[in-house]
Amino acid sequence: MIRASFFFSNMAAGALQLAVALLSLFSAVLSFPLGPETKHTTTCGYESCHATKPNMLNVHLVPHTHDDVGWLKTVDQYFYGDRNDIQHAGVQYILDSVVDQLLKNPDRRFIYVETAFFYRWWKRQSSSAQQTVKQLVNEGRLEFVNGGWCMSDEATTHYSAVIDQMTIGLRFLNETFGACGRPRVAWHIDPFGHAREHASMFAQMGYDGFFFGRLDYQDRMHRMVQKEQELLWRASDSLTPPTADLFTGILPNGYNPPEGFCWDQSCDDPPIRDDPDLEDYNVDDVVMRFLTIANSQATVYKTNHIIMTMGSDFQYENANLWYKNLDKLIHYVNAQQANGSKVNVLYSTPSCYLQELHRANLTWALKTDDFFPYADSAHDFWTGYFTSRPALKRYERISNSNLQTCNQLEVLGGPASRQGPFGEGESQTMKKAMAVAQHHDAVSGTEKQHVANDYARRLANGWQRCQVLVSNSLAALSGSSAKRIYCDNLNISVCPLTESSKKFSVSVYNPLARPVTRPVRLPVNGTAYAVSDANGKAVDCQVSTREVRRNRGFAVNELVFQVQAPPLGYSTYSVSLRQAGPRPASAQPGAPTVIQNKFLRVTFDPDTGLLSSLSNLETKQSIKLTQNFYWYNASDGNNLESNQPSGAYIFRPNSSTPFVISRTAKTETIQVQFPHMVQEVRQWFAPWVSQVVRLHGDSRALELEWTVGPLPIDDGLGKEVITRLDTSIKTSEIFYTDSNGREVLQRKKDFRPTWNLMQSEPIAGNYYPINSRAFIKDDVDQLTVVTDRSQGGGSIHNGSLEIMLHRRLLYDDVRGVAEPLNETSNIFPEGLVVRGRLLLSLDPPSVAADAHRPLAQEVVMQPLLTFTNGDLSPNTRLEFSGLQAALPPAVHLLTLTQWDKDSVLLRLEHQFQSWESKVNSQPVTVNLQKLFSTLDVLGMSELNLSANQWKDEMMRFKEKPLLKTFQDPSTWEVTLRPMEIRTFLLRVSLR
Ligand SMILES: *[C@@H]1O[C@H](CO)[C@@H](O)[C@H](O)[C@H]1NC(C)=O
Ligand SMILES: *[C@@H]1O[C@H](CO)[C@@H](O)[C@H](O)[C@H]1NC(C)=O
Ligand SMILES: [Zn+2]
Repeated sequence: MIRASFFFSNMAAGALQLAVALLSLFSAVLSFPLGPETKHTTTCGYESCHATKPNMLNVHLVPHTHDDVGWLKTVDQYFYGDRNDIQHAGVQYILDSVVDQLLKNPDRRFIYVETAFFYRWWKRQSSSAQQTVKQLVNEGRLEFVNGGWCMSDEATTHYSAVIDQMTIGLRFLNETFGACGRPRVAWHIDPFGHAREHASMFAQMGYDGFFFGRLDYQDRMHRMVQKEQELLWRASDSLTPPTADLFTGILPNGYNPPEGFCWDQSCDDPPIRDDPDLEDYNVDDVVMRFLTIANSQATVYKTNHIIMTMGSDFQYENANLWYKNLDKLIHYVNAQQANGSKVNVLYSTPSCYLQELHRANLTWALKTDDFFPYADSAHDFWTGYFTSRPALKRYERISNSNLQTCNQLEVLGGPASRQGPFGEGESQTMKKAMAVAQHHDAVSGTEKQHVANDYARRLANGWQRCQVLVSNSLAALSGSSAKRIYCDNLNISVCPLTESSKKFSVSVYNPLARPVTRPVRLPVNGTAYAVSDANGKAVDCQVSTREVRRNRGFAVNELVFQVQAPPLGYSTYSVSLRQAGPRPASAQPGAPTVIQNKFLRVTFDPDTGLLSSLSNLETKQSIKLTQNFYWYNASDGNNLESNQPSGAYIFRPNSSTPFVISRTAKTETIQVQFPHMVQEVRQWFAPWVSQVVRLHGDSRALELEWTVGPLPIDDGLGKEVITRLDTSIKTSEIFYTDSNGREVLQRKKDFRPTWNLMQSEPIAGNYYPINSRAFIKDDVDQLTVVTDRSQGGGSIHNGSLEIMLHRRLLYDDVRGVAEPLNETSNIFPEGLVVRGRLLLSLDPPSVAADAHRPLAQEVVMQPLLTFTNGDLSPNTRLEFSGLQAALPPAVHLLTLTQWDKDSVLLRLEHQFQSWESKVNSQPVTVNLQKLFSTLDVLGMSELNLSANQWKDEMMRFKEKPLLKTFQDPSTWEVTLRPMEIRTFLLRVSLR
């Protein structure tokens, strides 16, 4: 999204006069000569860079286009140039036009970034056009930068989905162009703040450097003064440097051209009028303005190389306009060298610019925190999108879990899993839908409503196709071809099968590499059921009257039982209706004073019905804990300090004190037969806010299932709903959040680690992205909250942690989306209702990670339930595990996916930081040959994190492509150190 900002418009009067004098000598040039076609070279990458001049200021002009993979239009509308009434943008024409223009002058350069678009274009090209493009790539004239399927959002994406989307983009580039298609530079020019974990991932993907455009305006000013717009980002506190070190450069002007130098068809800047016989000859003026800007820009960077991004959103649709003027600019500016000018302009790319910075052999400031939150002005904190579109954020997270299950089952089920109407393509649709959803206007929630609907529809289509694969695979593994039924609406207690069937089976597939135990809740209409596990053993189950869930579904009761599922495997439970049994547990008015299981005790305030304390019975620790719901009144922009309203991007409450929704909760308690299974307290705060507090029998976490919406707006006020946990934990303005679901960062109120913050928004300026967890702690107690999606949150008061759950706003926040964030749909015409869970655990700080790491992974990779109606055939295999044994607790199986016919991609991850746990922050060794129960591992080779380069070829400045063969390694043991992810290509055969 375009946001103009101008940093280099101050002209030095002396330089101006000198430039005028020099230029008047030069105004007699008659025609503009183009260089002749030079000989064809086959160098790409760093070797194909244009020469620079060591004693001059070298200005690297980088022609580029920023193509959002969906924002105001859908990804396909952008590709085709459809719906130009919404925004004039057509990526297919951009690529057509740029290729034509590159062919006209071999000096010209272009970078392309978003593989989702390039792939769409490439597959419609003739083979001769493809040949031509390959030639351009081989000569470094067209260079891929970043190269993921999209340019991911950094605040709200989970690392697992980011790695996947990078992998499919980079794989396409490698397979299409080989080594010359491998991007050397990560390029996140638009995301609204930058996560440390993204930098860590980019380093491990083999990028040599990273450039971005947006950072806090105060941070930018400090860095300009101190010449620290180039830095070394040490992006992990656990990985040994330089594994997660990444050179990072901040672009001078967002990603726009300098003021006055935009020559796209969408711009109004004057073209270079260089025929002195015609009117309005302006070469002197253009050259002078350019020299002034270049010299000014050079004062805030360290070397004699500077970059100018010559392009912007969806530019270059008519690339001739840009290139014709850039050719002239380079010619006329460099011609001044004959008159003593010390400025040298050249066509360049981010990697060529990076190479020069690298050659300068300087030292750079070290950065170990991140670039959140992002503010572009005193009252404009981009912290609203951490929560915007909470339903889409959750759907994206569930979709990731489903995709991982789909990928694993494709491997475990073998070729039989791929037999279906879509051939080999069953998991591809879902992979691409998930990749598109990582875009910085997708899961971020900053797109128009129709585009949000498009992302969700793509995910739903992808899941439909994956279901075919999952069914095939489970049929192959279980030996039963009974029809598999999926209940995708269990979150709103809707499942037609369980509501009507007298006998059915449920298979629980667990995508984690260790066994999980969890409750299953099914909507039913019977009052008594018998449940048996895979060994035929009876399982305790409980029927209770269903919580009133508005008008969705027809079930009156809910059946609950515990299931256990083996690592990377399933277990099947059968459920049958009984004629007689105990009456369903019903709700009794009022809250109990206490509920407890063997690990936790939870108390409620008898007067208010709110939570009042939480105790860990094993460690004998106890805290006061009050939880309630509040809403911030969204600023409408009518404000003395600033006219910035709250919107899809920006969070701007018009008061720092939120309104309490209700001081007391109306409560009900479910009187259960089996308190060791689950205890449940239901709370109502308003017709639009309710919560179920659940304590499961063998859980160390308290579940808070919140339901919020439709947010009332008939009072004309936009609302941003939070829940706040106020505790007796003694914090001093510090809390912790995770970065993209991985490493944890410390956050301090009104403080930034690398500059003196002038705080101007006491709430919004203290909000941070919470991807999967946040915590507060003192020396004794740590309260961790695991979330089920990305949300924004902060610790505004000591001992307190607040999380924003839902927002409904009446004004656009003027960052381009041009719609208020006011979500409604056909089935929710009065406004979206959103439901989610927070999982709370209380532990001593020294062991808290041992609890929250696995808990968070369980939420991210949740079991998948599939159903079959009636009796299963007697020789059905009711239980299966794809692993020989569970992996050690420190190891997470991040990826298992079919790569090609005979090989699979495996990622194993050490999921603890080096300082986090006495027990788990130790290196662990895994034997790859003894991993799988049904696959023989015949060969292995290690890759970089994004699987587009062999590990032993990483970080080579000059590289020669080397064909790899699978080797039988001398040892199959691989060791993982804290926070390490190792990526392997395994050649396998089904046993
Ligand atoms: C880089 O700088 C260091 C001193 O900081 C020097 O020792 C080294 O020789 C330089 N390397 C090159 C290639 O110039
Ligand atoms: C890159 O693609 C080439 C084919 O273009 C293939 O031979 C090679 O194995 C790929 N490299 C990796 C790391 O997958
Ligand atoms: Zn963008």
